[in-house]
Amino acid sequence: MAKKVKVGIWGLGRAGAGMHTPEIGVHSDKLEIVAACDIDADRAKAYGEKHNVKVYTDPEEFLKDGNMELVAVATRSLDHLRHTRQAMEAGYAAIIEKPLAPSRKDAEILVELNKKYPGKLFCRQNRRFEPCFQHVREIINSGLLGKIHTIKLQRNNFSRRDDWQTLRANGGGQLCNWGPHLIDHALQFLNYEVESVWSKLSLIAALGDAEDCVKICIKGKNGCLVDIEIFDGNALSTNVYEVYGTRGALSSTDEKDIKLRYVEPSYKLIKTPVNNGQPDGFIFADNAQIPWRRETIMTDPELKVNMNSFYGCVADSLLEGKAFPIKLEEALAVLEICDIVRSQTPGFEVPSANQ
Ligand SMILES: NC(=O)c1ccc[n+]([C@@H]2O[C@H](COP(=O)([O-])OP(=O)(O)OC[C@H]3O[C@@H](n4cnc5c(N)ncnc54)[C@H](O)[C@@H]3O)[C@@H](O)[C@H]2O)c1
Repeated sequence: MAKKVKVGIWGLGRAGAGMHTPEIGVHSDKLEIVAACDIDADRAKAYGEKHNVKVYTDPEEFLKDGNMELVAVATRSLDHLRHTRQAMEAGYAAIIEKPLAPSRKDAEILVELNKKYPGKLFCRQNRRFEPCFQHVREIINSGLLGKIHTIKLQRNNFSRRDDWQTLRANGGGQLCNWGPHLIDHALQFLNYEVESVWSKLSLIAALGDAEDCVKICIKGKNGCLVDIEIFDGNALSTNVYEVYGTRGALSSTDEKDIKLRYVEPSYKLIKTPVNNGQPDGFIFADNAQIPWRRETIMTDPELKVNMNSFYGCVADSLLEGKAFPIKLEEALAVLEICDIVRSQTPGFEVPSANQ
């Protein structure tokens, strides 16, 4: 039988039980859960019974398990660094959930761990594998839309959220919650070449004291603007993606399909002289001659990825030594943007990570 990576899940909540567990299940030929830990005894017991794995309520005992090879840290945000360090120092490879840390400075320990245990640290920027993100990237790279000047990334909703993630004392708030995903997308689009950042944090609908609305405009060195909106205070939803270029545009409302309007690729947009005289009637431009194409395509990128691909890549890296597509420096670059954003709206500071 082919070797499988033996995984231990640390934290059995919405992420640990609700996401990591089924994602690992999809790759049951390469990964198996052999242990799990939660300080909530009822939760641990129920998980152990459901999945037939050894469970712990004491993290120290969990780390002594010895049978695990990889620990997935899915505990609360401020504990990610400490738990990742403890897991790696106990001899295991580790997946660190997002947010890695509340600040880039806090995350310095990851640089040391990555050096000390090469190939063993996996940052969970799992939305890098969203099919729509990948497909949008492929369309942009094809040149169909011309030179891209504006990209809008929007996850808008109205939610009177009331869990621990809404409290600053827990490292909560949307900057640390959805922020790492969309900032990661933005940096991928901008090839990590950032000229400037403008942002605004606010609290509209959530019941805690952390921001539930995040607006970030990142201007790339190539002049492209990525405009991020993560609003839990928007009663009307918006497109998840909008991309505008010199030859066309795309949008996606729900990531299932992508709407395109672009100039016929063989048509040359030739620069003709401006009419500086009297306009010839009620006209402003001769747009009618442009051969526009319109189509709506199903989201189906050439690179076949989906939200389960994260664990597939972790397994391929540990079992076959394949390069893991998410580099630590990329995940740390996300934190650098978070630091700038946090500094631009005082009043939403969060504590340092537990180290
Ligand atoms: N990457 C993603 O797509 C994604 C999605 C959801 C959540 N997350 C991240 O996962 C983390 C957890 O979020 P959640 O929504 O699952 O929270 P949650 O409250 O649902 O679950 C956290 C679990 O950790 C347990 N726990 C807390 N301290 C512990 C400790 N010291 N040892 C063992 N167990 C402990 C809690 O009892 C709880 O069961 C957050 O940091 C969040 O940002 C990531």
